[in-house]
Amino acid sequence: MKKGKFITFEGGEGSGKSTQIDVLLAKLKNKGIDVLKTREPGGTYVGEKIRELLVSGGKNDLTPLSELFLNSSSRKEHIEKLIKPSLDVGKWVLCDRFTDSTLVYQGYAHGLDLEVIRNLNKLTVGEYIPDLTFILDLSPEIGLKRAKKRNNNENRYEQMDISFHYKIRESFLKIANTDEKKYKIINANLNKNEISEDIFKIVLNKFFIN
Ligand code: TMP
Repeated sequence: MKKGKFITFEGGEGSGKSTQIDVLLAKLKNKGIDVLKTREPGGTYVGEKIRELLVSGGKNDLTPLSELFLNSSSRKEHIEKLIKPSLDVGKWVLCDRFTDSTLVYQGYAHGLDLEVIRNLNKLTVGEYIPDLTFILDLSPEIGLKRAKKRNNNENRYEQMDISFHYKIRESFLKIANTDEKKYKIINANLNKNEISEDIFKIVLNKFFIN
């Protein structure tokens, strides 16, 4: 049974998720909480192999349906091998992207059937749904500029048209508005410290930590 807290971070390219996860991880550890960070696609040996297929190469190298299946396979491994065992023993898990990314990227942006994705997400994660999700909201122009500065070959999604990235932003906000208790929208255009303080305050309040 799930005992730890499960927190996910979502947003467009270059929205600063991984920086903020690192800061929150350190702050929670300081409070004596047993917590780990992980990411999707990825997080396990097989998941990281799948990630390479998804995030590198040309934008048309995979169809949206193949992306859906690959992300779901990575997620199933992640749930069974890392997320479930950690949460079951009371560890907290901070995850860079999760099921909302699938709904937004493969569903709203690539146009796959949303109900199919919701059902596949349910089948993959079961009861292991996030307790809290931060949406780091940023204009696609600024995000893509930041992402391009990163020196790696994980740029398959950055090659998509700007209209794709507008859909991503709009759809994350749409999802956030469906459940204001679970989703917290964070202005990712503020400075790094302001953002991390906001995030930490929300986490402390939500889980009654002094
Ligand atoms: P990131 O780690 O820089 O966020 O890159 C992961 C990329 O994978 C990002 O462009 C979003 C994309 N993605 C999907 O399209 N669907 C998914 O289900 C997940 C988890 C990520």
